[in-house]
Amino acid sequence: MKNKNDCSSHIEPNEEQVVLDVCCGPKGMWFNKHDPRAMFVDRRSETIKMHYPSGNYTEKINPDVVADFTNLPFDDNTFSLVVMDPPHLQRSGPDGRMTKRYGHLKGEWREMLKMGFVECFRVLKPHGTFVFKWCEVQFPIKEILDLTPEKPLFGHQSGKRANTHWVAFIKQNPTDKGA
Ligand SMILES: C[S@@+](CC[C@H](N)C(=O)[O-])C[C@H]1O[C@@H](n2cnc3c(N)ncnc32)[C@H](O)[C@@H]1O
Repeated sequence: MKNKNDCSSHIEPNEEQVVLDVCCGPKGMWFNKHDPRAMFVDRRSETIKMHYPSGNYTEKINPDVVADFTNLPFDDNTFSLVVMDPPHLQRSGPDGRMTKRYGHLKGEWREMLKMGFVECFRVLKPHGTFVFKWCEVQFPIKEILDLTPEKPLFGHQSGKRANTHWVAFIKQNPTDKGA
């Protein structure tokens, strides 16, 4: 476990940043890609060129901090909410659009996710909320949740084609600046 004395590459969020996204990618799921309540992390920072029949465009992967979620540069018990939406495809073409946008699972990826869970819970405050996103096209969610001893509360169990949405909120302090 890391603590305040381990400051080899220590980063302090500002007082507004109570949420941590540990692998933000292009931030497609965010209502506000510059939400001041969040600290955005990814292991890459790059501009990618996407080619579609309708035309070409560029997309930015632009985290606040470039870091690996298996070794997060934050103190224990720092964030009120941590979200993790890792790559979920192993078989995807290396030059495919999905890989460019979202990365893919390679090498010892189960170990990577295992350590990612440990790190997410380390930096989460006691009674904080952890949100995990997974798309089970190649690997079932059960297999992935078995990589952590943490016990999930509830989640989406209504099937791929359901039109159900989950939307996360966080309660603000009266002293917080507007988000
Ligand atoms: C599915 S995408 C995230 C999509 C994002 N939630 C969105 O809304 O657009 C997964 C991201 O995880 C990043 N990633 C993969 N392994 C990582 C690791 N070990 N540490 C940090 N980021 C990682 C990839 O670079 C990729 O951008």
